[in-house]
Amino acid sequence: MYQISFRLYMCYTKTMQNPDEKYMRMCFELAKQASGKVAPNPMVGCVVLDKNGKIISKGYHEKYGQNHAERNALLKLKNNEAEGGTIYVNLEPCSHYGKTPPCVDLVIEHKPKRVVIGMKDVNPEVNGISKLKAAGIEVDFVLEEEAQFLNRRFIKTMTQKLPYVVLKTAATMDGKIAAKTGSSKWITSEKSRELVYTMRKEFDCIMTSSNTVIADNPSMSQTRWRCVLDKNLRTDKSAKIYRNNTYIASEQNTPLKDGELDLEAVLKELYARGIYSVFVECGGTLAGALLKAGLIDEIYQFIAPKILNDNEGLSCFNGENITEISQAKSLKIYEVKYLDPDILIKSVFSSS
Ligand SMILES: NC(=O)c1ccc[n+]([C@@H]2O[C@H](COP(=O)([O-])OP(=O)(O)OC[C@H]3O[C@@H](n4cnc5c(N)ncnc54)[C@H](OP(=O)(O)O)[C@@H]3O)[C@@H](O)[C@H]2O)c1
Repeated sequence: MYQISFRLYMCYTKTMQNPDEKYMRMCFELAKQASGKVAPNPMVGCVVLDKNGKIISKGYHEKYGQNHAERNALLKLKNNEAEGGTIYVNLEPCSHYGKTPPCVDLVIEHKPKRVVIGMKDVNPEVNGISKLKAAGIEVDFVLEEEAQFLNRRFIKTMTQKLPYVVLKTAATMDGKIAAKTGSSKWITSEKSRELVYTMRKEFDCIMTSSNTVIADNPSMSQTRWRCVLDKNLRTDKSAKIYRNNTYIASEQNTPLKDGELDLEAVLKELYARGIYSVFVECGGTLAGALLKAGLIDEIYQFIAPKILNDNEGLSCFNGENITEISQAKSLKIYEVKYLDPDILIKSVFSSS
């Protein structure tokens, strides 16, 4: 899998940019305009330069099922302005018939001298680079790690056929998500909680547990789907979460692993239902189990400037007896936000 160069990602705006990097970053910015609108497709932007190095067109993949970035950019041109020029695109142009015809044919028709690509497509059906080279077009890569980071959700869903999983926790500075009584309202500020409502909209589904539904009775209504892990169907069907489309994973429809619901099987079932991203909001038991199974891709951790100071307070992660610090799971932080008074840390597992 790909490695993320944290320093490169965080500091790129401060570095000297060569023209290829500059136009590729333009592609990234165009691509990001489609965030949340194209899954399970990737976010792609395209910038077209004429033979004198002047930008003559831009485009991006705007909506799932609609034109890809290259098509949107090239169809804006009236004549052969791109001939001898350079086309920048953050993903290898497609070469197969999907919901739209192959972009690589349209690129070749426009006779650019060079195509600069961010990353090779992980879809095994795509062979755009060979087609470009066979047509005598130079192909270069630039900012490959950043291009992969941008489309990390697409890479995971395409290669593993599982949804991309982000776990959210909200904890005190000593890592407690609730007091031993279960009291957890509210650890973080209203501002942080409002941000969580907005974040939820970036996902297809919120996953939670029987315990959390019983303790907090959340409605979690901001996503298309909800998933409750409830092995013995202990939750009350009049709970708020069931007012909207909710998949209940129980021992009636899910295989067990070590006596618990097989979490990977649940994620596979969600993927089969067209769910490509999952936002997990739960307590430490389920979070620990997901972590142990290696099923979390990212963590959004809210930290409130509070200290509970009670060993029996509930922790973000309840795992096994770990004896060596070297056994700790490592992440890379890619964003830190001060929300006054809380902070939000977004981090990704380096193996994602
Ligand atoms: N601060 C925060 O960010 C936050 C967020 C959510 C919740 N909370 C708090 O967390 C507390 C609940 O924490 P918790 O640790 O008791 O519960 P939890 O982690 O939310 O859920 C654990 C339960 O999930 C179910 N589950 C299903 N499959 C599982 C699997 N494979 N592995 C592990 N669990 C599985 C089990 O119940 P079944 O046997 O019934 O299936 C298990 O008891 C509540 O007090 C709530 O307020 C805090």
